[in-house]
Amino acid sequence: MGKQINRSLFSTRVIEWYELNKRELPWRDVTTPYVIWISEIILQQTRVAQGYDYFVRFIERFPDLTTLAAAEEDEVLKYWQGLGYYSRARNLHAAAKKLKGVFPRTYSEVLAMKGVGEYTAAAICSFAYNMPYAVVDGNVYRVLARYLGVDVPIDSTQGKKIFAALADELMDKSRPATYNQAIMEFGALQCVPNSPDCGSCPMIDGCVAYASAAVAKLPVKQNKLKTKDRFFNYIYVRAGAYTFIHRRAANDIWKGLYELPLVETEVMLSADAFVASDAFYTLVNASEKPIVRLLSSGHKHVLSHQIIYANFYEVILPENARSFSAYKKIRRDEIDDYAVPRLIHNFLLSLE
Ligand code: ADE
Repeated sequence: MGKQINRSLFSTRVIEWYELNKRELPWRDVTTPYVIWISEIILQQTRVAQGYDYFVRFIERFPDLTTLAAAEEDEVLKYWQGLGYYSRARNLHAAAKKLKGVFPRTYSEVLAMKGVGEYTAAAICSFAYNMPYAVVDGNVYRVLARYLGVDVPIDSTQGKKIFAALADELMDKSRPATYNQAIMEFGALQCVPNSPDCGSCPMIDGCVAYASAAVAKLPVKQNKLKTKDRFFNYIYVRAGAYTFIHRRAANDIWKGLYELPLVETEVMLSADAFVASDAFYTLVNASEKPIVRLLSSGHKHVLSHQIIYANFYEVILPENARSFSAYKKIRRDEIDDYAVPRLIHNFLLSLE
């Protein structure tokens, strides 16, 4: 680095840019900590365009801590259906129940809330209470790495420390809320990950990465995510008006959500191999003469660390079948009442 940073020039320009370019968003210009908390949890790993409607619906149904705390977890998950990272919703609900109607007022108490890390605590404390905590999210890492020309990996212990210190140093402590919104918005709209339009950037003359043609190389990440392939065989039962579902309970993806009976296999089996497998016949009682058909195959569902390949089978059974007795039997037209992963939701839509 070795470069003298003109701190106030950086924050002044970012804030000027923000005032001209910011989006009108329903959680901006709000200082209710509960509302900010909900918006920040929704917006983690989620784009504004995707999170917006979820936020509006969530706040309409759960306008305050007490309402959220009084709800059933299943209903909270239903409002989260399709957003992914469902532990966010479970943690929100658990935290709301613990708070007994009073939102914490100090940084350390906010940080102690379930599901709240340093980023979210800084966002809540700055936006709601105007406390001088600098937010460091993916947008901020990118802006700082480029503007200051820092190539230390952002996902290393050292990188996290360095960027936290830089973020704190650059922050305009006389207006933390505006500064934090501004730097995140600048990263989201102007200093974007791929092919940013540097020609239109008001920060160009202080930008180290631009001057050294390193914009595309920054920020640096050391760990490429390892992804794991999984193979899911789902069974959609038609037993007259009924079908079967179950609630995922294990510490795995989609905990707390409902899904169809599932057989996970080491590789994707052909329909013939699956229908002949022991796993299939532990679920389905052969004496009930099931009619089995592969309904839909080749689904690929990409999560952050896993790729799920899924096939969906239809199994037709008599209405009073004893197969699937370990599952929850529901009317097929009731399935919309349950929160299901998007993979299942899309499959169910395809049946209509
Ligand atoms: N992403 C995370 N927090 C945000 C916010 N408050 N406004 C816009 N995008 C965001």
